[in-house]
Amino acid sequence: MNDKHHIRAGIVGSGFSAAFHVEALNRVYEAHVEITGVYSPNAENRKAFAAERGLYACTSLDELISLCDVVHVCTPPATHEEIAVAALAMGRHCIIEKPFTGYFGDGAKSFDGRTFDRASALKEAMESVERILEAERESSASIAYAENWVFAPAIQKERELLEKTGAQVLWMHGEESHSGSHAEYYGKWSHSGGGSIMGKGVHPLTAALYLKKVEGRAREGKAIRPVAVSARTHAVTTSDWYRDEGHLRTSYTDIEDFGAVHVEFSDGSFADIFASELALGGVHNWLEVCANNHRTLCSINPNTAMQTYNPKDENFKDIYVVEKIGTKQGWSCISPDEDWFTGYQHEMNFVYRSFTRAEPLESDSQLAADTIAVVYGAYLSASQEGKVVRL
Ligand SMILES: NC(=O)c1ccc[n+]([C@@H]2O[C@H](COP(=O)([O-])OP(=O)(O)OC[C@H]3O[C@@H](n4cnc5c(N)ncnc54)[C@H](O)[C@@H]3O)[C@@H](O)[C@H]2O)c1
Repeated sequence: MNDKHHIRAGIVGSGFSAAFHVEALNRVYEAHVEITGVYSPNAENRKAFAAERGLYACTSLDELISLCDVVHVCTPPATHEEIAVAALAMGRHCIIEKPFTGYFGDGAKSFDGRTFDRASALKEAMESVERILEAERESSASIAYAENWVFAPAIQKERELLEKTGAQVLWMHGEESHSGSHAEYYGKWSHSGGGSIMGKGVHPLTAALYLKKVEGRAREGKAIRPVAVSARTHAVTTSDWYRDEGHLRTSYTDIEDFGAVHVEFSDGSFADIFASELALGGVHNWLEVCANNHRTLCSINPNTAMQTYNPKDENFKDIYVVEKIGTKQGWSCISPDEDWFTGYQHEMNFVYRSFTRAEPLESDSQLAADTIAVVYGAYLSASQEGKVVRL
């Protein structure tokens, strides 16, 4: 490998996403990535995370930033802005996990995600976005938005179809749903900045926005962007009418557990995105593209790469089958390499190729900004029973 492609990565966070970032970095072949440090506020956690992976545990965020060229922001969404702005100010590239940033309440203990004014949330979320974009404009470095769906092989193959056939995408529909998030902070608006739309819907949403960007770029040299949104949300598992049989997580406090978002693009086309915590049977991640010259179903998870019949649950007790599956008995769609189908390693490969060769990023801060505008536009619309919100 050419030495000019040597680059140093630092990981902020030592939880779930930090772990898969490190794994994905170990599979990058487009650059020689050296992980020079990891930092998270809890000393015990960061030391354990670092020791397990043979990494250096930094004692402060500043130390981590000083030691690397690229800062991986693998922390709760409310902390993304502060970390990214600090890294960009020091001329470090950032890879920012989804969701980019958002509105996390007014800081009051009594803040309730069910009752605040959605119009000011949209305004404040976009002000946070703008502060990050401003830090990027003033920096020599760039932001990569870590939306892995953009890099999932099925979405990247669809990119090729759009580019090579000059297709016009008329309608997309997609979903991310499962039986409830594992993360402790998830479920409280002040921690996650929203519910199913913010936590899950952003994945198929960004993939849809990305494909319209690709279409516009291929035919006109510029992205086709979202211009309006309408949405409905529901909180099912915390409602009086829900009959709990113990299969779904029910401990959400002030967020929606279902969202349906209708996005309109500047060329008149549209997309419908569903997100929920109500789906049994494993994670349900898909995006369907209805174009004027083809139709594609991107089945990210589950897919039929491998199907196995297991007569007894116990047989598979030590076997990982697929994300969020409730039972391993009977037929299941085992994912033989889930991270591969989900796009994690492809994401890092693309991003580090862009950083080391100064090439444009496929998933950039504009895509991240548009995602947040649609999400908080959707929350405003839902608070007005689905009224169209112009972006
Ligand atoms: N792309 C995906 O598929 C995917 C999957 C899971 C999570 N995520 C995203 O990754 C981010 C982190 O989620 P997670 O599941 O890894 O959470 P986590 O709770 O497992 O880990 C969060 C880590 O951030 C650290 N942290 C908290 N505040 C910090 C601060 N101010 N400075 C530095 N470190 C801080 C914590 O100590 C912890 O180590 C979120 O934005 C989440 O939406 C993405």
